[in-house]
Amino acid sequence: MAELEQVPTGGGVTAPAGPCEVRAAPAGSLAVIDRARLRSLLDEEGERFRRGHPRSAELWERSQRSLLGGVPMSWMTEWASPYPVFMAEARGARLVDVDGNEYVDLCLGDTGAMTGHSPAGSVSEIARQLERGLTTMLPTEDAIWVGEELSRRFGLARWQFTTSATDANRFVVRFCRQITGRPKVLVFDYCYHGTVDETFATLDGGIVRARDGNVGPPVDPALTTKVVQLNDLEGLEAALAPGDVACVLAEPALTNIGIVLPEPGFHEALRELTRRIGTLLVIDETHTISTGPGGYTAAFGLQPDVLTIGKAIASGIPMGAFGVSEEVARRIFEQEGADYEDVGGVGGTLAGNALQLTAARATLANVLTEDAYARTVPLAERYTDGVARTIEELRVPWHIVRLGCRAEYMFCPSPPRTGAEAAAAGHDDDLKAYMHLYTLNRGVLITPFHNMALMSPDTTDGDVDLHTRVFREAVRALLGQQS
Ligand SMILES: Cc1ncc(COP(=O)(O)O)c(C=O)c1O
Repeated sequence: MAELEQVPTGGGVTAPAGPCEVRAAPAGSLAVIDRARLRSLLDEEGERFRRGHPRSAELWERSQRSLLGGVPMSWMTEWASPYPVFMAEARGARLVDVDGNEYVDLCLGDTGAMTGHSPAGSVSEIARQLERGLTTMLPTEDAIWVGEELSRRFGLARWQFTTSATDANRFVVRFCRQITGRPKVLVFDYCYHGTVDETFATLDGGIVRARDGNVGPPVDPALTTKVVQLNDLEGLEAALAPGDVACVLAEPALTNIGIVLPEPGFHEALRELTRRIGTLLVIDETHTISTGPGGYTAAFGLQPDVLTIGKAIASGIPMGAFGVSEEVARRIFEQEGADYEDVGGVGGTLAGNALQLTAARATLANVLTEDAYARTVPLAERYTDGVARTIEELRVPWHIVRLGCRAEYMFCPSPPRTGAEAAAAGHDDDLKAYMHLYTLNRGVLITPFHNMALMSPDTTDGDVDLHTRVFREAVRALLGQQS
């Protein structure tokens, strides 16, 4: 049996179901994780993985000889397994590896495949466009449809397209500096907005410094960036007051350090302060599009000046987008000296190409629809309920937060208020590796960067129930309660 210790918790459900939901650990005594058992279980799972993935092992060995780090992109080594699973085929909510193992995919390419893999509603149109020209540096009619649809969903008046969400964020930061004439960007601690130099800053005892591990920063981020904790309205007001911040770049809720939700009134105050001080408000919906068809912005009536998005909007074809208000559009084109057409620092040869826009039109028209969310949000509720039941019954000091069709458990009993609290309290590398590898070895993939699960329109109740069962077994084994 597990040992118990007194840990203060919120106890039970701490926020109602709806777009967001928080299920904290139960009040009272909670289980203590035995670290020696955890390490030995992790070793066992590593061995089990090796036995089940001999062909991936061969490819891993071979890939070292031609690929930097053995992978096409370094993030692919973030999985908990001793070496990456090599993918053979992915369809809908399922993935099959080169050893013939099949998985329920709750990672979904870390949101890039939130549509489900190769969704029929997009693939037929993408296939047709493949025969009709991919990239020409000329607009297509699809682009207009996509701009109109994004305006309808998010309320922003004018749109353009990029090859990634990172690029969308990069470009809007430039626009914001250009039109306000102000030098700085403000972000919330432990945000992630893609590989945007200005955002790799953190608060260390009130001082802005580069995030740990930041690769070759061009300048000290304290020169470009102010950092505030999410939900710290006093800190936000103090940071904006000097009038040197061009824009606040914010996710509606932090999603890259676990899910940290804004407190009631936070967004209203953020909007009021930024308006009053003349700072532009940029909302990044790349992950929070999980909330609903118009993201958190439509669900909660946010009124950003600029909105960015990417990942899922073209069913996995690389694409990002940014939308601006009428007023911001006017200010952008008032800038006489700015070169938007060539080497001014905003643009991309493949950005806005014909294939992307066909894929986005098909995705928005046929895949990420109201009907899809009517399926995926209840699936995430089911997932959250399954995880919360194990947390409650086995009294583990963890909690889970859901944001629409996305949910994430964290290794602390109640939800942190800020990114810094989440980083300090909710993260445990060995525990994360164990939970991920245990589930992977039993046919369920969750997102390697954190404990995130995402539902696609192809995910089924049975897929969720498999995770619920495996999650419970993993926790029971961790507590020494073998079945
Ligand atoms: C909120 C947010 N914005 C932007 C990005 C960048 O997306 P990409 O890597 O596809 O450019 C990410 C990536 O995880 C993200 O989480």
